[in-house]
Amino acid sequence: MEYQSFSQRQKLTMRWWSLSEFQDRDGLICDGSVRSGKTLSMTVGFFLWSMTVFDRRRLGLCGKTIEALRRNVTAEANQWLEGILTFKEHRSENRITVTGFGHRNEYHLFGGKDESSYMLIQGMTLAGILFDEVALMPRSFVEQALARCSVEGSRFWFNCNPEGPEHWFYREWICRWEQKNMLYLHFTMEDNPALSRRVRARYESMYTGVFYDRYVRGLWVAAEGLIYDMFRPECHLLHREPDCAGDCYVSVDYGTRNPTVFLLWQWGQKENRWICRREYYWDGRRRMHQKTDGEYADDLAEMLADVVPRAVVVDPSAASFITELRRRGWPVLNGDNRVADGIRAVSQLLRENRIAFQDCCVHTAAEFRAYVWDEKAAAQGVDKPVKEHDHCMDAVRYFVTTVVVRGGVRARKRPRGL
Ligand SMILES: Nc1ncnc2c1ncn2[C@@H]1O[C@H](COP(=O)(O)OP(=O)(O)O)[C@@H](O)[C@H]1O
Ligand SMILES: [Mg+2]
Repeated sequence: MEYQSFSQRQKLTMRWWSLSEFQDRDGLICDGSVRSGKTLSMTVGFFLWSMTVFDRRRLGLCGKTIEALRRNVTAEANQWLEGILTFKEHRSENRITVTGFGHRNEYHLFGGKDESSYMLIQGMTLAGILFDEVALMPRSFVEQALARCSVEGSRFWFNCNPEGPEHWFYREWICRWEQKNMLYLHFTMEDNPALSRRVRARYESMYTGVFYDRYVRGLWVAAEGLIYDMFRPECHLLHREPDCAGDCYVSVDYGTRNPTVFLLWQWGQKENRWICRREYYWDGRRRMHQKTDGEYADDLAEMLADVVPRAVVVDPSAASFITELRRRGWPVLNGDNRVADGIRAVSQLLRENRIAFQDCCVHTAAEFRAYVWDEKAAAQGVDKPVKEHDHCMDAVRYFVTTVVVRGGVRARKRPRGL
């Protein structure tokens, strides 16, 4: 077989198991930049290896979830192997039968975050297993799955993008690849021959700070210090009244003992970016008065006296407040609360200057300068912000992930209020 269009590192990923130099290794680890061609070459290699070596065996394919696996892994590999291997998917059983080279094997799909996969894999005997984006799966799932590989000649195939240097997969597998008798290959975007200069530049511009180091440079670096170090008052704070039009949105971070924040957003026409126009901030503890849901809803009504919001995006854990808002007839959306994804999205908007804040939003401006990564959590291999000075930051995140990123809800031309 000739793979003219693959890079050297991709070819090695596909063929290492057949080369005398690496034949004795128990598996392969590929890490590095996003879009560097890891998943594609590893999946092709995994099928070629297992179909050559085994007949009538079971193997495992693991993704973060089964849907992610179908989308990123099996669908593409099937196309690349068309005419070489034949795939028959048994969708309801999450199983693929592959035939070719005079052999037939069963590939079972598992999602590292799916409870049902965890149960299923426990009873199986496997001849090999591939983990796509292994760093996103719980360690217990991965170890459970590895323990199922008891067939003679079975091998482990891992790929991932970097996380923090205390992450269990980095410590256990990447730092110890030789002791574990693995082959380790580090990918960069150079290793994907299909990535045009333009697309590559786009990916490079998508990430900043720690995410740039990880996803573009492919390094296992810690998230430390200021989270939004790209926030610049001179770019992101407006000292004049902007020319806004179209739908307004409100995003809410709700607290009973902690502060409650409402942010009002509207599209800035001349600015050509989203503007946070008003901020409401109530710290019940400091003011020595905890407000009820009804009082908060009254305050929101006052803030919105001259505006009809298209949606109020609320902290999804604020069930009683959501009920109160709905009872008063406001259209409520549950905020998307995936923290790391949200922070990445906000960072990107700040960096691309696609979001700004009127200078009346004083708590928000202050939190941008105080919102930091939790170093204790980082030492445990977990990226999360310190849970202080984070209320406006949460409200910004809910708006960005739920309204801006999903993009489905567009600002309409018809101006309203303000
Ligand atoms: N050699 C290649 N020729 C053509 N397309 C490729 C090649 N390698 C990778 N790609 C494509 O580039 C994209 C990124 O590759 P992927 O393997 O998903 O990268 P990663 O897993 O490193 O993020 C995919 O759409 C994939 O099909
Ligand atoms: Mg991948």
